[in-house]
Amino acid sequence: MPDKKRLVVLSGSGISAESGLATFRDSGGLWEGYNVNEVATPEAWGQNPELVLDFYNLRRKQAAEASPNAAHFGLAELESIFNVQIVTQNVDDLHERAGSNEVLHLHGELTKARSVENEHLVIEIGSKPVHLGDVGEDGYQLRPHIVWFGEMVPMLEKAAQIVSKAEILVVIGTSLVVYPAASLVHYAPVHCEKFIIDPSTPELNSFEGWEHFKTNATEGIQLLTEHLKKDYG
Ligand code: APR
Repeated sequence: MPDKKRLVVLSGSGISAESGLATFRDSGGLWEGYNVNEVATPEAWGQNPELVLDFYNLRRKQAAEASPNAAHFGLAELESIFNVQIVTQNVDDLHERAGSNEVLHLHGELTKARSVENEHLVIEIGSKPVHLGDVGEDGYQLRPHIVWFGEMVPMLEKAAQIVSKAEILVVIGTSLVVYPAASLVHYAPVHCEKFIIDPSTPELNSFEGWEHFKTNATEGIQLLTEHLKKDYG
């Protein structure tokens, strides 16, 4: 049995939209309702940690109440044909709950919290809220295990290595406006087949060599799967 081709997915909040979770920059998106600088930066944490904790407690609760949609399941099913590696900007666990086995979270995970003092002291909290006074085993306050704006993206290099080995790259549900995540598309090998699934047009400086399924994630994954099965099925 020849090795399965490497199919790498770069996903964003758009893939979870049909699960009822808000994206960030669409109309009605999260950043319409909240000021990023008040809930998603280290400065915000310093000024009003309770507001930051409440923001992530709400998003954690919403993510726990949401279910994976057909796009998440469709990607998990592609593992029968391809070596699928998902690099996601999302902090929900819908890819994992749909059955995907290789998921790298660039921007952290809602289901985890960590010590403010030791970034390696990370604990699983599932859907539980974090409050001021909740401490890790080191006795320090717990914070969301999320990469805030202005913080380093520890998984970036690993993500770039994954994309650099892709034979098929699928960008789904991301506006590609946030760096360094958006820069990952430039690591794709020259001969890599490249697909976009998005009803609008992400920020790509050139669509040369990209096949764009200009539709939502659930329909787009179906169309992509049919397309790929013709060549690789
Ligand atoms: N199916 C597919 N794509 C969709 C759908 C859908 N049903 N609905 C919206 N989209 C697309 C939008 O057209 C847009 O291109 O999803 C994208 C969402 O873009 P953003 O709201 O900018 O979300 P994202 O790209 O994931 O944001 C990146 O920004 O705020 C930070 O850390 C946060 O990880 C996030 C990062």
